[in-house]
Amino acid sequence: MPPLSPLLDRFKPSAISGMMGTVALMQAEGKKLYDFSTGEPDVDTPEHVKQAATEAIRQGQTKYSPTDGTIAVRQAVQRKFERENDLRFDLGQIIVATGAKPLIADIIRAMASQGDEIVLAAPCWPSHVGMIELAGAKPVFVKADQADGFILQPEKLAASISKNTRAILLCSPSNPTGAVYSSQDLLAIAEVLHRYPDLWIITDDLYEHIIYDHHQFHSILNVAPDLASRTIVVNGVSKAYAMTGWRIGYAAGPQILMDAVRKVMSQATGCPCSISQVAAIAALDGPIECVHELVKTYQARRDRSVRALNQTPGIDCLLPQGAFYLYPSCAGVIGQHIPGGATINSSLDFANYLLNEWSVAVVSGSAFEHDPHFRISTATGDADLDEGIARIKKAVLQLD
Ligand SMILES: Cc1ncc(COP(=O)(O)O)c(C=O)c1O
Repeated sequence: MPPLSPLLDRFKPSAISGMMGTVALMQAEGKKLYDFSTGEPDVDTPEHVKQAATEAIRQGQTKYSPTDGTIAVRQAVQRKFERENDLRFDLGQIIVATGAKPLIADIIRAMASQGDEIVLAAPCWPSHVGMIELAGAKPVFVKADQADGFILQPEKLAASISKNTRAILLCSPSNPTGAVYSSQDLLAIAEVLHRYPDLWIITDDLYEHIIYDHHQFHSILNVAPDLASRTIVVNGVSKAYAMTGWRIGYAAGPQILMDAVRKVMSQATGCPCSISQVAAIAALDGPIECVHELVKTYQARRDRSVRALNQTPGIDCLLPQGAFYLYPSCAGVIGQHIPGGATINSSLDFANYLLNEWSVAVVSGSAFEHDPHFRISTATGDADLDEGIARIKKAVLQLD
């Protein structure tokens, strides 16, 4: 057999995609599952966005665009940053791409290679890790404990920076913990970063609009504008506007870095879908109320699910401040036995027990580099969520 690339040995496949594949197979076999594995809004894309896309098709806007998106979509992103984040970028500093995921991968490829290190908080989104490894660089994890609200602590960040560090990657609200960095948290991180002027800063703000209670989204550039010459801000329409399948993400940052990313994209990724670009303009320029309605639904789900989980012996769930995930600790069930005798030795064993015996699909904490925890996505129907959480409780009560 012809050989495959040795690059493949550098990284693991996405555990979330793996779980989604298992769920799809089980569902195809006719099994009813309570699926909390996917980070995808359970509602449809807003009507005005779909109408804009339909009109774009009718008008024949079906051709290649510039690699980094049309001027119109980049202007919509420019307006968004100014209106919602008080950040000003020239059009040349803005890139629109086929989703934030490939865009972050291209950003990392543009700034890091073999021997470089990128620092990120753990728990983290598994694809951040895979992208770093795929670029040949090494992820350096800074443990962000539940006791610290899963927030990266500045002294731990400082201790993790070496002569090989090329960038730090921040994600707020966080996938998988829902932790939201306050302006004080960001200021403390900025103070560390001021000591290291040769580091890039990547912020993944995909869950910006999914925020609860009195919490507010802040960009590190709001508290430390002088970091603008080395910060790249990434966002997208997937989560806020229920547009995961449309594949539009965007980023803004210093011209020299954006040109480097454009160079990578010009050979590797190409332009985003022309129709989705028109849809993204409608989403970004359109009413924000549809997003707020969705957030209210997520908040109600969060409140009652966290309450139920915390009434389950062995499970301890911090109230997330944003995103639509719960990241409970299952430390209290480790070492217990499932009916029939097998021991639960890890969060993966627990996740497998929930899936195989109780038809509940969650993602084990091993995927997020912080254990023993598991991730539940609440972006799923109310009835299924309530039944699934009740099943988790029953499953735990059967352990001895
Ligand atoms: C933190 C984070 N960033 C980026 C993405 C990818 O977003 P997109 O759909 O724009 O590729 C996800 C998707 O789950 C995510 O959780």
